[in-house]
Amino acid sequence: MRILVTGGLGFIGSHLVRRLLREPGIVVENLDSLTYAGNPANLADVESNPRYCWHRVSVTDDRAVDAVFQRGRFDAVMHLAAESHVDRSIEGGRIFVETNVLGTQILLEAARRYQVGRFLQVSTDEVYGSLGPEGFFTEESPLQPNSPYSASKAAGDLLVLAAYRTYGQDVVVTRCSNNYGPYQFPEKVIPLWITNGLEGKPWPIYGDGEHIRDWIYVEDHVEGLWLALTRGRAGEVYNFGSRNQKTNREVAEALMALLNLPSSVLVPVADRLGHDRRYAIDPTKAERELGFRPQYQWADALKKTVEWYQTHRDWWMAIKSGAYREFYQRHYGSLGQELDDH
Ligand code: NAD
Ligand code: TYD
Repeated sequence: MRILVTGGLGFIGSHLVRRLLREPGIVVENLDSLTYAGNPANLADVESNPRYCWHRVSVTDDRAVDAVFQRGRFDAVMHLAAESHVDRSIEGGRIFVETNVLGTQILLEAARRYQVGRFLQVSTDEVYGSLGPEGFFTEESPLQPNSPYSASKAAGDLLVLAAYRTYGQDVVVTRCSNNYGPYQFPEKVIPLWITNGLEGKPWPIYGDGEHIRDWIYVEDHVEGLWLALTRGRAGEVYNFGSRNQKTNREVAEALMALLNLPSSVLVPVADRLGHDRRYAIDPTKAERELGFRPQYQWADALKKTVEWYQTHRDWWMAIKSGAYREFYQRHYGSLGQELDDH
C-alpha cells in the first residue's frame, strides 16, 4: 500500500509516519512544505528508511502537487498539513484559508485525477465550536467554528464531504480532541508550560483558567487514524477522544506536580479572543464501528511526555531560540519580553 501523508514533519504527522512504517509493506511519501511548525528532526529516525521519502512541496502549489501524485500512484492520502495554532489565526487568517481550505481542495482534486483509493481528512473537534457545562460533540453536532483556524478546518471538511456527495469520491473525515505528547511545537499549551518550567519561566494562563479541553495522547489519535483509513466507511465522519476532560488549571496543577513547581509559576494573562469554553468528544461511533480504544492513561502519558521534554532539550531549545521568539514576544507582550530577558 502506498500512502501520501501531508504534514508529516509536524507533531501528529511525524507520529503517524512512524506508526505507518511499522506496517509491513507500506510505503509512505510525506508532502510537507516545512513551515515554522515542521521539523525534519521529528523524523530523523526514519529518514534513511527505503519505504519513506519527503517532498518539500506546499499543498497550495497545484503543479508540484500534481507531479507528486503522478509519480506516486497512491492508494490513500492522509491529509494533516495545516496551519494549526488558534492564536496565530487570530493575528491573521489568510494563510489559514490558503493552506487549510485551498490546499485541501487542491489535494482532493489531485486525488480524484489520479484515482487514489481513499482520502482521509484529519480534522479537529474545534469545528463544532464551544460547549456549555453539559453535553458532548457527536458527529451530528452542528459546525459552529469560532476562530479563523477552526472555521478554515470546517471549510476544508465541507469540501471533502462535498466531494463524496458530488463525485462519489472515497473520503473519510476524522475529528479529534486536543493532542499531547513528544514533538509538539512549544506554542501549544502543554509543551509551552513544560519547557517554560524547565527554563525557570512563568506559565501564561488565559482568562480564568477554567476552560476545558478533552486531552488525548498523540499515539492513541494516530492509531485511530489508521483504523479510520482501513475500516472507516466512505463519506463518514468519526470523532476521536479519550473521555478525559480537564480545565486548563487542572492541566497546570498536574504539570506542576510532575515538575515540582509552586503554583506561583502560573501568571494570568488576557483571555484569548473568542476563547472556546469547553470541548468534549463522544467517541462512541469510532469505538463501535472502528474498534477505537485509547490505550494511554492521562497520568502515565503526561509523565512520559514531561520526561520526553526533559530528555530532549536540544529539540525544543532550537525551536524556542529561533524564529518562534518573535511570535512569543508579540503574543505575550510584556510577559514575553520579561521571559526573554530572564
Ligand atoms: P503542526 O502545526 O504541528 O504541523 C503541521 C505540519 O503541516 C507542519 O509540518 C508544516 O510544515 C506542515 N504544513 C503547513 N502548511 C503546509 C503547506 N502549505 N503545505 C505542506 N505542508 C504544510 O500540526 P499538528 O498539531 O500536527 O496537526 C496536524 C493536523 O491535525 C492538522 O490538520 C490539525 O488541524 C489536526 N488536529 C490537531 C490537533 C492537535 O491537538 N494538535 C487535534 C485535532 C486535529
Ligand atoms: P492550545 O494548546 O493553543 O490548544 P487549542 O486552543 O487548540 O485548544 O490551548 C489549549 C488551552 O490552553 C486553551 O484553552 C487556551 C489555553 N492556553 C493558555 O491558557 N495559555 C497559553 O499560553 C496557551 C498557548 C493556551
